[in-house]
Amino acid sequence: MAKISMLTAYDFNTARALEEAQIDYILVGDSLANVFLGYKTTQEVSLEEMMICFKAVRRGAPKTKIVADLPYVSVIKPNSEAYKDALAFYEAGANIVKIENAEPKSLELIKMLTDEGYQVMGHIGYTPQSVEKFNGKPSYVKDRELLFSEANKLYEAGVMAMVLEMVPDEIAEELTESLESKSREIFTIGIGAGQGTSGQVLVTDDLLGRFNLFKPRFVKRYAEQYQDMTRAFQDYKSEVQELKFPEQQSLSFSKNK
Ligand code: KIV
Repeated sequence: MAKISMLTAYDFNTARALEEAQIDYILVGDSLANVFLGYKTTQEVSLEEMMICFKAVRRGAPKTKIVADLPYVSVIKPNSEAYKDALAFYEAGANIVKIENAEPKSLELIKMLTDEGYQVMGHIGYTPQSVEKFNGKPSYVKDRELLFSEANKLYEAGVMAMVLEMVPDEIAEELTESLESKSREIFTIGIGAGQGTSGQVLVTDDLLGRFNLFKPRFVKRYAEQYQDMTRAFQDYKSEVQELKFPEQQSLSFSKNK
């Protein structure tokens, strides 16, 4: 089976380009907190900010399956309220809502949604939303047994797929094989988890070299847009100063027109 492709988008034009490129799934990830809004952690993004981006992406990619991340601010609410926040994404056109971590509270929320027929994606391994209080680092589960137990719990809760972020390659491959052999169809999407997953996801701003403050080891840059942008802005400034822009003829109006 062909590997599944997923990329993030937070705005209208990126979504248009992803749809034109026929990327299988677009993720409105809460990574937008860092790479689009400049927050330090994904915990800081609000539901409203996520929703504005989600709606722009849906307008740009009306035909593609879109996954919306349920932000931290929603995940920490009582499940009756978190459920309503998730519903808001489905009502705005999300095909799938992604919920990070496999804690009992998240599993209960996932089950509440899947029992009603909504599609949910899980996310285990490195989970940036779970920033620990004392060392300020996101939670990072690498233990084989724990990962298998979390993946099975997510399967039981009814997820249609799960992101495996920075899961060691051989564990990601074993997990994928084990999940793909289950009676209900389910797939894995890897990020920094090797080639053995059912598909791959990257943060588009990393892939395009638009976010260049740091580069995770697993990222491949297919463009250098930050440099291209800076060069274009410098060229514009020079041309404005040197009276090269706007060009002379674009200033003249013909009276007959
Ligand atoms: O928020 C995000 O972009 C994500 C991906 C890194 C999987 O969750």
